[in-house]
Amino acid sequence: MAASVLGFGTTAPAADIKEVQMLHWWTSGGEAAALNVLKQDLGKEGYVWKDVPVAGGGGAGAMTTLKAMVAAGNPPTASQILGYFALDYAEAGKLGDITALATKEGWAKVIPTALQKFTTTNGKWDTVPVNIHSVNWIWLNKAVMEKIGGTEPKTFDDFVALLDKAKAAGVVPLALGGQPWQEATMFDSVIASTGGIEFYKKAIIDLDETALKSDTMKKSFDNLAKLRSYTDPNYAGRDWNLATAMVIRGDALVQVMGDWAKGEFRAANKEAGKDFICYRFPGTDGAVIYNTDMFAFFNVPADRKAAQTALADAAMSKSFQSAFNVIKGSVPARMDVPDTDFDMCGKKGIADVKSANASGKFVGSLAQNYAQPPAVAAAYDDVVTKFFHGEIKTSDVAVTELIKAINNAK
Ligand code: GAL
Repeated sequence: MAASVLGFGTTAPAADIKEVQMLHWWTSGGEAAALNVLKQDLGKEGYVWKDVPVAGGGGAGAMTTLKAMVAAGNPPTASQILGYFALDYAEAGKLGDITALATKEGWAKVIPTALQKFTTTNGKWDTVPVNIHSVNWIWLNKAVMEKIGGTEPKTFDDFVALLDKAKAAGVVPLALGGQPWQEATMFDSVIASTGGIEFYKKAIIDLDETALKSDTMKKSFDNLAKLRSYTDPNYAGRDWNLATAMVIRGDALVQVMGDWAKGEFRAANKEAGKDFICYRFPGTDGAVIYNTDMFAFFNVPADRKAAQTALADAAMSKSFQSAFNVIKGSVPARMDVPDTDFDMCGKKGIADVKSANASGKFVGSLAQNYAQPPAVAAAYDDVVTKFFHGEIKTSDVAVTELIKAINNAK
């Protein structure tokens, strides 16, 4: 009809496709529950949800799938993405433009400046941050903690003493998923605990070679090795959420993990302060080693752009950022969302982000692609995991290998 009205040689613009195709790695119970909030919000606006899940914590598998889709000229409406991966796609000219919405909604005023480095390219918005996770947390089973008479560990040495107590009581002290990304994520915290956050910045953010080969870095590796002795024998290859389940069941005392772990406690109907306890990784209180889940919007055909705007709008609404993050375990990326609906860990998370941001202690996680480009992060994962699994035997060799691997990747 429209075409004939417009006359020969002219075609009417195609109608917007009311479908959101979303690539992500949120396949655990807590993650899926959180994502459901978004599916429902968009469903109410008439959008059909086309899920593209790629299992694998940390997102390495998802990033491989995304790369193939983009290379084939068939990018999803949006993809979950972490820091430097988004910068790479932006630099390659693969991302779209949602600046009009960002300006209208005033996002620049409510998103921490540190994150805007990843959400914008030359002033143009191409991704939205849906949360702020942080990796420097530990999650403890409260009943086990009481049984062994444990108290909050304030330093790395306190932490080791607490793990010893659990061991002596016959409980698995540390629930660990022995996959490279999990070990590297834990190492981010170990470095910040061993050397302090200023050291983390020098070594990990600035890649200062003196810091990287220092005794403090060696001590960080030695501390990581200490943690290895508190795992159960079956840790190798275990998924992160199965490690969380060990703590939920009381089969293990503690897991060192980003606050997506809290999503699993919640999905199992466990309550913060009653069933489980969250502390900052000992020796890192006051600092937030963050990773933010973003949705990247790729260049898509004109009839799919409205879906991107709808998704961005929904994901950035204050109500979504509260509802989603309450379930996900993270905290809102927007600084103007009240903490009313959050549990005690979420409230602490929100307060910590604000204070760390104000005091210069809000730093990106290397393991989670917020400190360095993907190749450097992959080099780090590789050396950390080789050390953890005994292929690299000493911390002396580990620092040498780390510097070599980083320099090759740069
Ligand atoms: C992180 C991501 C989190 C969580 C975790 C485990 O990379 O930022 O949202 O999903 O992986 O899958």
